[in-house]
Amino acid sequence: MMPDLPIQMDVTPEVSGFFDEATNTISYVVRDPGSTACAIIDPVLDIDYAAGRITYGGADRLIAHIREQGLSLEWIIETHVHADHLSAAPYLQDALGGKIGIGAGITEVQETFGKVFNEGTEFQRDGSQFDALFQDGDTYSVGGMQALALHTPGHTPACMVHVMGDAAFVGDTLFMPDGGSARCDFPGGDAGQLYDSIQRILTLPDDLRLFMCHDYGPGGRAIAWETSVAEQRRANIHVGGGKTRDDFIAFRTERDAQLKVPALIIPSLQVNMRAGEVPRDDDGHPMMKVPVNGL
Ligand SMILES: [Fe+2]
Repeated sequence: MMPDLPIQMDVTPEVSGFFDEATNTISYVVRDPGSTACAIIDPVLDIDYAAGRITYGGADRLIAHIREQGLSLEWIIETHVHADHLSAAPYLQDALGGKIGIGAGITEVQETFGKVFNEGTEFQRDGSQFDALFQDGDTYSVGGMQALALHTPGHTPACMVHVMGDAAFVGDTLFMPDGGSARCDFPGGDAGQLYDSIQRILTLPDDLRLFMCHDYGPGGRAIAWETSVAEQRRANIHVGGGKTRDDFIAFRTERDAQLKVPALIIPSLQVNMRAGEVPRDDDGHPMMKVPVNGL
């Protein structure tokens, strides 16, 4: 336990999950129980990459929910720079307002992929595309509910877990207990760091509700996205059962070497490192690059 962390276990936000079938991502609308304030976690922008076509069905679903419930959007939180889907954050901000926040480690991600995509000097590597950059332990509010950002690197340098009342959004650190943990082989990833980050999550209160960013329904089970700290500690297949840090690093490294590159990594990184804005060419047209043998 870390009793010094400002976690409000007596505050129970309403959490609505929205599953994106194309990318197995779960986006959330989190509502402060004491007001109409809400936050969105990890919204998805739809893309048909082969056709270069972007659409807004998933984002519109979130907007409809927020409008139907009469909520006011205060925050759009990215748990990290996703490599498997594009962020709809700017589209949602245009429609509903709110501030876009991500971990301060974004600058490291921007340095790395600014080089990979040979971005010119107009691409800022200081995180200024976002409205807020969180440091470990930062707090902010959603209505009257306090939120806490915890730095949990390993999958990427910018990964954070966001705790709101008795709910935590773990991004790509843990998957459901039968899914284990996220890959660590992206640039800036580190299996040992992820192990340490997961251990930190497992010291949070037993009954803290944990909401996953992804689920792939291992073994054919129905898609699920909610579990708890106690359940992860007991049953997670990658970190439970007394596995050591060295065991985890060995397992994770071997597994990651067999994983395919995410289908949408090239468009995802270019958009998400710009807080969800599609890059533009010299004439101002939305345009993306493909670095050949660059990843
Ligand atoms: Fe990810």
